[in-house]
Amino acid sequence: MTNSITLRRPDDWHLHLRDGAMLGAVAPHSAEFGRAIIMPNLVPPVVTGDQARAYRDRIMKALPDGAALRPLMTLYLTETTDPADIVASHADGLIAAVKLYPAGATTNSASGVTDFDRVRPVLEAMAEAGVPLCVHGEVTDPEVDIFDREAVFIDRILDPLRRATPGLRVVMEHVTTSDGVDYVRGNASGGAMGATITTHHLVINRNAILAGGIRPHYYCLPVAKRESHRLALRKAAMSGEGPFFLGTDSAPHPDSAKLQPCGCAGCFTAPNTMSILAHVFEEDGALDRLEAFTSLNGPAFYAMPPNEDRIRLTRQETEVSFPTEIAAGDETVTIFDPGFPLFWQTEPA
Ligand code: NCD
Ligand code: ZN
Repeated sequence: MTNSITLRRPDDWHLHLRDGAMLGAVAPHSAEFGRAIIMPNLVPPVVTGDQARAYRDRIMKALPDGAALRPLMTLYLTETTDPADIVASHADGLIAAVKLYPAGATTNSASGVTDFDRVRPVLEAMAEAGVPLCVHGEVTDPEVDIFDREAVFIDRILDPLRRATPGLRVVMEHVTTSDGVDYVRGNASGGAMGATITTHHLVINRNAILAGGIRPHYYCLPVAKRESHRLALRKAAMSGEGPFFLGTDSAPHPDSAKLQPCGCAGCFTAPNTMSILAHVFEEDGALDRLEAFTSLNGPAFYAMPPNEDRIRLTRQETEVSFPTEIAAGDETVTIFDPGFPLFWQTEPA
């Protein structure tokens, strides 16, 4: 049995750090990642380069001394986004990508896009300047079953949008279905597409949310799908194939907002992600491909060098215990429980 592996320092290509007291509470839990794509769905959202710069400064202040993390900022695409601001912010190295939320698809997405024709000039400018578009790939049409919203998004929106904007590089964020995996795999040549896969979607299927009682801490968007989809995600993540890389989508919410008659979506996985990933990759005999998923494929897609330094993951004799929750101001945030004991621990290499 392998008891220790050394990896280039991992990156997180989809992370929610929030703001204010919550930022202060959660940022230290991502400090050991090398880089992270920071999602812009604050209230109000991060829509301009100036706002992204100010948010980056707040993140840097919230990180502990010696943190490895370098935040890669994103702008939240609206129907009034100025293409010149995107292109300039990208050229400055301030932003790494732009995030598209269909209006109403998820937490704090009210300012997102309703009429995709209105963002066409922005997308064309991005294609020209090589700025990747990160998409939340779900339709918001209430007629569409929530478990089908990703597959329908591909047909109705993503594929037409990509055809209308040749050269636009797209990341399908937190892909949750075999349809998503197949679409990305089939359209990835030349770096045209990538996909992030979360930690929790490798672990849970929809039964975790609904069978034997309702479990709000497993509710996130896109919602976990049936087991065959989870298995497709595991295969993609463990394949070593270039288009698939880690984006934890660690999305903290106070328990007071999750444990409600209408609770909000998001799993907080930052604290135990690497331990969970080592567990599931080991389970499937794919530990030798963990580094591709966490540390190599993402930078290759974003045309950045992989991190030079390394971390070591060591399998302990006894269970590694993570806290069940953290404090954030007066609130608590529950840490994702994978439902199995964890033995892998991260150390600097
Ligand atoms: C995210 C959040 O809380 O900001 N929630 C989630 O369930 N993933 C938003 C998102 O990425 O969809
Ligand atoms: Zn997210």
